[in-house]
Amino acid sequence: MAVTPRSLLTSLSWLRLTGALVAATILGIVVRAAEPSTPMITDRPDMTWFTDARLGIFIHWGIYSEGKGSESWAFHDGQMPYDEYMAQAKTFTAAKYDPAHWAELFKAAGARYTVLTSKHHDGFALWDTKQSALNAKDGAPAGRDLIGPYCEAMRAQGLKVGLYFSHLDWSHPDYASVFNAAGANDPAGRKNRFSYPQGPENPAAWERFLAFHRAQLREITERFHPDLLWFDGDWERSAEQWRMKELRAQLKSWLPDVILNSRMQGYGDYATPEQALPVRPPTGPWELCMTINDSWGYQAKDRNFKTVRQIVRLLTECASQGGNLLLDVGPRSDGTITPEQEQILRALGRWTSKHAGALYGTTAGIPKDYYYGPSLLNKARDVLYLVCYDRPVDGLYVKGIRNPVKRASVEGGGELTHRRFMKAEWAHQPGIVIVDLPEEAADPDATIVRLELDGPIELLEPGT
Ligand code: GLC
Repeated sequence: MAVTPRSLLTSLSWLRLTGALVAATILGIVVRAAEPSTPMITDRPDMTWFTDARLGIFIHWGIYSEGKGSESWAFHDGQMPYDEYMAQAKTFTAAKYDPAHWAELFKAAGARYTVLTSKHHDGFALWDTKQSALNAKDGAPAGRDLIGPYCEAMRAQGLKVGLYFSHLDWSHPDYASVFNAAGANDPAGRKNRFSYPQGPENPAAWERFLAFHRAQLREITERFHPDLLWFDGDWERSAEQWRMKELRAQLKSWLPDVILNSRMQGYGDYATPEQALPVRPPTGPWELCMTINDSWGYQAKDRNFKTVRQIVRLLTECASQGGNLLLDVGPRSDGTITPEQEQILRALGRWTSKHAGALYGTTAGIPKDYYYGPSLLNKARDVLYLVCYDRPVDGLYVKGIRNPVKRASVEGGGELTHRRFMKAEWAHQPGIVIVDLPEEAADPDATIVRLELDGPIELLEPGT
């Protein structure tokens, strides 16, 4: 991977999540990111719908959806002149925008919530904001608010509504007015005219920008009542400069139950790893956001779609560690979702609907010492779900379960035979449960074996 300013920035924002002072080496470059001591959050909302949801669909849609260059980064990173990038607004028609179709498709994929880009780093808003003319009503042939119809359509399908919002705004004249307090001496950061002032700092302009930032957020919270606000682009300023503590309090006063992702520099409600599956899960609620191919927004040339098997694998890896998968799609400027993306979502839906019982509302399963694979438990903890990607030659082995197994079956399928192996009652050893999984019972994308236990799961203590 080449180190572009973007990948470096993305790495920086990810590193911030890990807290404290972090030093990382990326292709020989040492990156240091300081995190202010983790703030105490005392007003966390009830997050049950979120932690039960497992799958969300992320939608990157904006003037970049013509498919020529990446969302916002195209001009920031110098791949396209700013004016050429912004001129894409002229073809942002939303002519075939059918949010009811999106909602039906996302629901069929198995999603329980969706997150749409209300405004990316380029500053172009999809709603008719009163704060700037850069919006879908006043600044593009779309000629109307696109967020309201989205919220309505998702809610009509019973989906929770999320809105993505970029704190930073590379088009706003007052944005590039101060340096990042922590990174003020970072020569690389100072170079970019969209991010930082090219001359002296102008704190008064920054105050104006914050007023604009708050006014836009007040518009989207009070008007659309999102269940989730998915922030991005916090990394160019410090928590103090953004006044994140104050922002959290403002958002909660406008919309008390709203859930905030982590790009709030310590003031969010859940962790937001991006593109890479964490080997060990973050603490607390979390969600992995991941593109369906290699791009967030629609890119005509990007054909590197993930397979349904890969997506199912990532979904179950996340779910088995208590996390959600937020799978990103990129509609075109006219609002249509390409057939390739639609096909993947529908095929994913075949898997999620068959395995719904094991997926939604379950919790992280048992440690890998007991079963060499992902697993999940129901809330009563008396049903254990074992995820199996490749059909085992000798059956599935689960060690150290003290409870009798009442029944073994395939989720969405029939009974399976099971037996105890190496039980040593004199040593209080429950042995190994072996479940046979014949070829015809296996699912082509991933099989889930359901073990019904006699009572809440009891595992053999490690070391015994
Ligand atoms: C990164 C990128 C941005 C994208 C986001 C989604 O932060 O900067 O383009 O929207 O990831 O998580």
